[in-house]
Amino acid sequence: MSAFYQKILDNNRKWVAEKTEKDPEYFSRLSNGQTPPLLWIGCADSRVPANEITGTQPGEVFVHRNIANMVIHSDMNMLSVLDYAVNVLKVRHVIVCGHYGCGGVKAAMGNSQIGLIDNWIRHIKDVYRFHYLELDAIPDETQRFNRFVELNVVEQVKDLAKTSIVQNAWRSKQELWIHGWVYAINDGLVKDLGVNFCSSDELPDVYRLG
Ligand code: CO
Repeated sequence: MSAFYQKILDNNRKWVAEKTEKDPEYFSRLSNGQTPPLLWIGCADSRVPANEITGTQPGEVFVHRNIANMVIHSDMNMLSVLDYAVNVLKVRHVIVCGHYGCGGVKAAMGNSQIGLIDNWIRHIKDVYRFHYLELDAIPDETQRFNRFVELNVVEQVKDLAKTSIVQNAWRSKQELWIHGWVYAINDGLVKDLGVNFCSSDELPDVYRLG
C-alpha cells in the first residue's frame, strides 16, 4: 500500500479521536438522522469541496457532484438525489455551484475528443449554442471561458426549475429556493449569480406543468 493510502486511514482515526474528545456524543447524534437545509449540486473537481466553502458541518449539506455541475433532466442519479432532498429531507435551498477554470466547461469550448465524456460534455456545448451571440462577441479567451462557466450555471438553475420535482414542491407551497453560484479557485470566493428562484413565475410557459 502507498504512503498516501496509509495516511488517509490514519487521518480518519485522528479525526474520530479529535471529534469525540471535543464532543463525546458527536457520532451518536449524527447517527440519529439528517435534516440538512441545503442540497448542493457541484462539480466533481477536487478543489471545490461543498462543506469547506460554505463553512458547514456533516449533517448540513446533501451533496450531488458530477462533471461541470450539470442538471440533466434524464439523469436518474441527479433526479433521485433531487427527489430525496426535496420530498423526504425537505431542503429549503438548492445551490448549483460551478467554478472558474472548470475542465468540463473548457473541454466544451474546444473540439478535441476525450472519450466517453464527450457525450456528457455535449450538454455543455448546448449551453454555448444558446448563448453563442454573447460568448462569440467576447474576444478574450479567458473572459469568454469565465462567462461560459457562469452561463452554464444559470442554465442548470433554470433546468432545475423545469423539473417536475421542483415545480411540484412550489405548487404545494413548499419553501424551496434555488440559486446559482460560481466559485473562484484562485481566491476562494463565491459569486452569487443573482438567479434566485422560489416559484415557477419566471419559467417560459411551455415548461410549466399544470
Ligand atoms: Co469543474
